[in-house]
Amino acid sequence: MVINEIKKNIWAIITNDWDRRLFDELIPLPDGTSYNSYFLRDEKNVLIDSSDPRTKNQLFNAIEKLKIEKLDYIISNHSEQDHSGTIPKIIEKFKSAKVIVSEKGRKYLMSLLLIPEDRIITVKDGEKLNIGEKTLEFIHTPWVHWPETILTYEIKNKILFSCDLFGSHLAISKILASENDFYKPAKRYYAEIMMPFRNHIKKHIEKLKNFKIEIIAPSHGPVYDNPTVIIDAYNDWISDNVKNQVVIPYVSMHGSIKKAIDYFVENLIEKGIEVKPFNLTYTDIGELAISLVDCATVVIGTPTVLTGPHPVVFYSTYLFKLLRPKTKFVSVIGSFLWGTNMLKYIEDTIKGMNVEIIEPVIFEGYPKENDFEKIKNLSEKIYQKHKDLNLI
Ligand code: FEO
Repeated sequence: MVINEIKKNIWAIITNDWDRRLFDELIPLPDGTSYNSYFLRDEKNVLIDSSDPRTKNQLFNAIEKLKIEKLDYIISNHSEQDHSGTIPKIIEKFKSAKVIVSEKGRKYLMSLLLIPEDRIITVKDGEKLNIGEKTLEFIHTPWVHWPETILTYEIKNKILFSCDLFGSHLAISKILASENDFYKPAKRYYAEIMMPFRNHIKKHIEKLKNFKIEIIAPSHGPVYDNPTVIIDAYNDWISDNVKNQVVIPYVSMHGSIKKAIDYFVENLIEKGIEVKPFNLTYTDIGELAISLVDCATVVIGTPTVLTGPHPVVFYSTYLFKLLRPKTKFVSVIGSFLWGTNMLKYIEDTIKGMNVEIIEPVIFEGYPKENDFEKIKNLSEKIYQKHKDLNLI
């Protein structure tokens, strides 16, 4: 646990989960994570967000160390249990504390955590709460990444408590983000959690221009005392711009697909295209997600298993659709030995994505001269598409 007074009478309470390796039973956490709360001491004492129940003891130790004997409000910016999960224990300890939340958040806290309705106060977008020397303003920001989410802005010190937005899954001992190494964990977090909501985030960041922000204090990972670095990074990731990159998630069972992908990769590199192949049998899906943030093109490589794509490829293709990256072009390099519906499975899975499909290369057995020619043509078509977008 780390306690740090970020401004006079405002403390960050970082409860670290060093050993957590999976979030939502889905997302790999190579560096663990932290659940950050913030305590504001004033005429009314306020706690902003709580912690995952996994680190409840750390949060209660911090409450003791800070000698918090009275708590008037706990603000729940976001109802997901990694931030709200300890609220029931907090309001059990502080009998008169009220939970401040959006209207949707009220429903979720009652549904997920059985918090009694009479302990909850709801706030509207733009509503302010004076707590003594300080005043808090609530900013509704639905879909970052749940529909109920709010941010809390502390007007006097210009601190934005942004909960998941601008967060990083990173257990930390040093509270401030370093400009040298904040980028990758923040991008991983964006890719895995925020990317499907790119258009909502665009609107919210536009709205945040109305606030002078000197500190961004998220609920995972480091705090930013230079908010520009993380806001600029987000502006790049949420923009419509793609890069001259081809991401190639693939599986090869007996070497046919590997041979084809290796040849494809060489062709793309010769054309000056950045290539990111991911052998899905051991890929960290977080790394794959990061690469999807910017790439112009995705080419899926798969053999046929029974009648469809390799199940690991099928899973990754489904994830690709869920993450809604700004990818422009998609193709497939696939193999089969007898009948196959592999391509149909993939096309059905990505149906509805705003992508152009470049004619796939599907071959029987091991790739032959004719197949290599088709793969070369595929790389030429991708080169032309990237050139037309002025990426090359
Ligand atoms: Fe960190 Fe959506 O919870």
